[in-house]
Formats: sequence, structure tokens, C-alpha cells
Amino acid sequence: MKLLDHIKLIPRNNWDYGFKALFGALAGIFNNTAQAPNIENIFQQKPIWTNSGRTSLYAILMSLELPAGAKVGVPLFCCSVVFNAICQAGLSPLFLDSNINDNNISVEDLRKKRGDLAAVVAVHMFGNPCDMYSIIAAADTMPVIEDCAQSIFSTYKGKQTGLLSTASFFSFRCGKYISAGEGSPIFCRDLELQKEIERIVNSFESWSTIKMFIHSLMTFFKATLYNRPWYGLIGYPIGMRLDKKLNLTAKDGFETEKIASTHLALIDARIARFQEKINIQREHAHMLLNSVVPGNFSLPSEGNGCSSNWYQFALRFQNTNQRDVMADYLLNKGIDTSKYLDNIADEARSNYGYFGDCPNAELLSKTILLVPIHYNLHTCDIEHIARTINEGSQII
Ligand SMILES: Cc1ncc(COP(=O)(O)O)c(C=O)c1O
Repeated sequence: MKLLDHIKLIPRNNWDYGFKALFGALAGIFNNTAQAPNIENIFQQKPIWTNSGRTSLYAILMSLELPAGAKVGVPLFCCSVVFNAICQAGLSPLFLDSNINDNNISVEDLRKKRGDLAAVVAVHMFGNPCDMYSIIAAADTMPVIEDCAQSIFSTYKGKQTGLLSTASFFSFRCGKYISAGEGSPIFCRDLELQKEIERIVNSFESWSTIKMFIHSLMTFFKATLYNRPWYGLIGYPIGMRLDKKLNLTAKDGFETEKIASTHLALIDARIARFQEKINIQREHAHMLLNSVVPGNFSLPSEGNGCSSNWYQFALRFQNTNQRDVMADYLLNKGIDTSKYLDNIADEARSNYGYFGDCPNAELLSKTILLVPIHYNLHTCDIEHIARTINEGSQII
């Protein structure tokens, strides 16, 4: 790639954390922000806050007081930190297959494995809601936990995701829709369970002022490397070369903490008008849907009765080779993409006892390519992406 191409490289993820975010977060330290009225208004419920989605899931699972080692159903096509959180809670993941058409949990597989399960985690993958009523019916009396890490403001049959199940959690870590550094609200309608979750979360560590300060500065620094022009010049080449060691979005650890006031301040300031950003991203998705000609790949769509927030735009190819050729083609034209969860089956096999019974999920992990449609891209970027996908499909 030429220098100009490096400068213009469109990042795969959206780390929206500039100066304004930094100052908003730091104001949280000085104001000692402890409330988030905007999110309470939106969800008509008071959330319980933790530092991250994985911590929230851990707290919910602990509150359920399931027998040690009990099996929790979770889609294999899911971020492995979720599997880890299940293990941290003294439970074990039992992997569920996904639907090829919407990347979400297969209700049929859930029905098959239901007898072995004590709870199930339903992930709204890429912001597209799962078929929640069918999942809840298949789960019967078993608790269903909604993983809304990717689905802020998505709706299922007119209802917000996060309000459809026993308990739910979101993630507002950088790279997710609301890039606030970290932070995760838990919603739970069962008052007894809510009290228990609160009790568990109250036992977590709080953030010191110095830690909040350093974390905000580090987040700002990493976000700078994750945005143009620095992404193509520094973030991408270093991230690729050092892979995991400096993979800018990877965060593998597990640390149970309360939410920092820096994160809370930023989340609450952003969420009030966030629907506007989602509307822009939705327009971007529709631009691609209207101008990309499906060929050796299929385009994403919204589920029946669902409104997706279009957190990600996933192309699904007929095979891995075609996906990889398209990814290389796009990269050469200045568009970075993500082979999301490419190694998830191997990772789950090595670390979490997966034994190969989720063929659709394995296929998805090897054939899905996420292309950027972030709300802060320009119309000309989206036109460039559409044009380049159409060109690329001629050579695969
Ligand atoms: C589907 C899903 N669930 C849970 C998580 C965990 O969220 P966090 O990184 O805030 O712990 C992620 C984030 O990577 C995710 O993508």
C-alpha cells in the first residue's frame, strides 16, 4: 500500500473516543458521577452497573445460585470472554449451534440440548435480535440471560432488547456502539434476583481516582491509534505484527469491578442522543444493501418483527477462500475488515470442552466477513466500500 492508502485506511471497528469524550470522562471524576438518569429513563428501570459485560454476566450467573458445574447454554458463535465468564462463575458452557441466516442461536438445537441445561445465554449477534419468544418457550422454566453487548436500541416485536428475559446486560467498552472505555448495565425485572445481583456487585472493587485518570488517557491514546490517519500508519501495522500482544481491541482478562465514574458520566451523556448515530449507521447499512450485488456471498437482513441497530454488517461467503480473497482485495483498496471469531471452534475445543456439535456456527466463523459501516464514516466512504465489494466479487 502507498502512504496515502495507509492514511486513508478505514478501520474495521469504531473507537469513538476523542477529546470531547476524554473531557466528558474526566468530568465524571470531578463530579463523582454515580447516577445515570438518561439510561434509566430510556429503559424505565434502574440498572446495576459493572465495569464490563463479562463481569455483568458473571454477577447474573452467581445470583442464580446454580449447582457447581451446571451447564449454561451459549452459542459457539460468540466472543470467548462469555465462555470464560461462565467458567469463572463455577459453571460450564454447553455450546449451542447458530442459524446460518441470522447468525443467532438455533432454537432447534436449544430444544435438543435443553434437558442438560440450567440456564441459557441468548446473544443478539451483530445487533440483530434473537427469536426471543421462541427461545423463552424452549427454555421453559430455565432462566434466559440476554447478552445485549452488541444490541443497544435494537428491538424485538416492538420491545427493546434487554427487557425480554430473566436478566440482561450490555457492554459499552470501546469498539462497541457506545465507546465509553468500559461499563456495563445489568437489567433484571425479578426484584429478589435484582437484590442478589446488587449484593454481588457491591462486593466488587471500586476504581481509584488515579486508575480512572490513567485509564481515560490510555483509552484516548488507543482510540487515536484506532482512527484515521493513525490507524493505517501505526495501529494496523503494529497490531498485525504483534498480533495479540498489541491487538488494540482484544481484552482477554477477567477483573470484577464496579463501574468507574468516568465511564458512567460518558455513557449517560452519550446515550440520550445515541439513536441519531444508530440512524446514520442504519442508513449506511441500507446504502450497502441497495448497491452491493450479492454473488458468491449473501447480504445480512433483519429478522421478522425485529429492528437491528446494525452494529455490524456481515457478508457471508460460500467458503473461506472466497472470504479471504475478498478481505485481501478490500484491504488493498483501503478497507479493513474483520474475520470475526475465525478461530472460535479451536479455542472452544482447547479451553472449554467443545466437541464439534455446532456445524453451522463453525461454518459462520469461517465464512463471515464484517465490513465497516460506522456512523462516523462519510457517504463517500460507504460508496467506496460498496463499489469495492462489487469489484471484488468479480475476482473471487
Ligand atoms: C457478544 C458479546 N458478549 C459479551 C462481551 C463482553 O463484553 P465486555 O468486553 O464488556 O466484557 C462481548 C465483547 O466483546 C461480546 O461481543
